[in-house]
Amino acid sequence: MLPCKVNVFAAASELVAALADALETHLHQRLTLQTPKPLGLATGRTMEPVYQQLLARLLDWPAADLQKLQNGWLSFNLDEYVGLAVNDPRTFHSYMRRHFGDRLGLSQDRLRVPDGHGQDPQAAARRYGDQLNQAGGLGLQLLGLGSNGHVGFNEPPCGLDSVSRVVSLTQATRQQNAAGFDGNPAHVPAQAITVGLREILAADQIHLVVTGASKAEILEAWLRSPCTAELPASWLRSHANLHLWVDEAAIAGFYKNAMN
Ligand code: GLP
Repeated sequence: MLPCKVNVFAAASELVAALADALETHLHQRLTLQTPKPLGLATGRTMEPVYQQLLARLLDWPAADLQKLQNGWLSFNLDEYVGLAVNDPRTFHSYMRRHFGDRLGLSQDRLRVPDGHGQDPQAAARRYGDQLNQAGGLGLQLLGLGSNGHVGFNEPPCGLDSVSRVVSLTQATRQQNAAGFDGNPAHVPAQAITVGLREILAADQIHLVVTGASKAEILEAWLRSPCTAELPASWLRSHANLHLWVDEAAIAGFYKNAMN
């Protein structure tokens, strides 16, 4: 028995369309709430087509609804590199402006990303966690999966009590993210700020999105793993409202090995 609701799609494009539908529905319902909780957002290649599809839908909303959405928007991104200038195109701040915020007309204060460029990143991480808690904690959390099993930048080993903080990135993660840094892992910042697993696990609902053959191995490990610090994403399995979104390329290995 899988520990969550699983949505499997033949192709990533079908997954993206269905997920964008689900997010649009959630955002519509959110408009009717008195005190909606903030959204938890992720970056990464997996999320780029999701934001593209979601934007296309939202920009098609009637003007009054769109304005209500913009006025009531509050989201907290999971993570940010430490040490890059804020407008450096490689920051997650820039990613969110480029792929989502600018086109939707969201101010920086509504589309929050940890501040990794100041003098005291540790204090910035604590402040970010405090702001998140003061805003009521996360409602819907969107998550990608790192190829070493991280979520956000919660690198292994990582317990479920971790909170927003500065972390050192593993070699595997710097390798995974090197494409954005001239293909050179040494150019990927050594540290980052991440929201912790405690804050992620306190979200009302979690949507973990895993696509492509390059994630097949870690997805299979995730599906087979008990909850363990060695695979930080495994703690998600204990969440009561977890949705897994996968394409066949990512889950094929698990099915194949399960039959053998
Ligand atoms: C990155 C980010 C995560 C992201 C994950 C997957 O390192 N810190 O927030 O979800 O790893 O990235 P991608 O979608 O590019 O595979």
